[in-house]
Amino acid sequence: MADIEGFVRSMPKCELHLHIEGTLEPELKFRLAERNGVALPYRTVDEARAGYDFHDLSSFLVGYYQGMSVLVTEPDFYELAYAYFEKAAAQGVEYAEIFFDPQGHTSRGVEFGTVVRGLRRAQLDARRMLGLHTQLIMCFLRDFQAEYAMATLLESLPYRDWIIGVGLDSDERGNPPAKFAAVFARARAEGYLLTMHCDVDQENSIGHIRQCLHEIGVDRIDHGVNILEDPALVDEVRRRRLGLTICPVSNRFVTDGTKAAELGRLLDAGVLVSVNSDDPAYFTAYVTENLLTVQRELNLGRDQMITLQRNAIESSWAPPAIRRQILDKLAALNS
Ligand code: HPA
Ligand code: ZN
Repeated sequence: MADIEGFVRSMPKCELHLHIEGTLEPELKFRLAERNGVALPYRTVDEARAGYDFHDLSSFLVGYYQGMSVLVTEPDFYELAYAYFEKAAAQGVEYAEIFFDPQGHTSRGVEFGTVVRGLRRAQLDARRMLGLHTQLIMCFLRDFQAEYAMATLLESLPYRDWIIGVGLDSDERGNPPAKFAAVFARARAEGYLLTMHCDVDQENSIGHIRQCLHEIGVDRIDHGVNILEDPALVDEVRRRRLGLTICPVSNRFVTDGTKAAELGRLLDAGVLVSVNSDDPAYFTAYVTENLLTVQRELNLGRDQMITLQRNAIESSWAPPAIRRQILDKLAALNS
């Protein structure tokens, strides 16, 4: 196929950096607000979209947490997740790892079990009806106390088999990885895989990346493009085949650009970088739009687009059979 856009649209895809609460489209938000009697500070879908005025991580997070207040019951979490799964499947996503923020809900009085049971039911239906394989990653909110993260970790243990790993998100300022060292050590002991956000252009981003690698012992890093400030760390993640899950359109909203050039440098250096959507309802770009953004900015060819997908599946926590199936499909595109 000569047409690179058509090629990107038709590729089998894998998504590793996706906050399920960040897939809450205004239409569903209004429906759930009405169903649950939750007041919203805007009256129409257009007003809601027009109100998205994000210029950095903190300003984005205000809208993100305000939006998730409409999620109350198990069916709400089911509908949220299933709506995303339908969109993802329509874009050719065959495997996705989904972040969820339990403390964004338990802090409002919603029970942990309500959240995971709704998400789990949507995952099982997506597998059956859409052929989409997904796994859950539970994120701790780094602007809360470490003790609350530890309590959340303990609360998750009855659902241990439903959750593949743990992550760390929310406002990074003043909340370094080391704050959660004990929580992540316990998570590892419980058998969870570990990832953490190192958001782009934060205070001491490179120091946080170093802590993730050397003090926490993460299995992957979310964002992490500032690693380019230390070539020794770039070399380390390349050698250890640790993935960086990069989110170009999200970067355009919360930093000074997509960071596509930095992604290109990491790709050329042989680092396992992948392209992901982060919070697609807010940044109005799902995974295909993110891939096309990077393809256009860097004028990438088919081989490089395939490498990005191969990087994603190789740095994923997919079961071996799924991994093999997607790698085989990508190899067939190459021939
Ligand atoms: N960074 C930090 N917190 C978040 C993000 C992100 O990319 N998305 C949702 N919560
Ligand atoms: Zn994120």
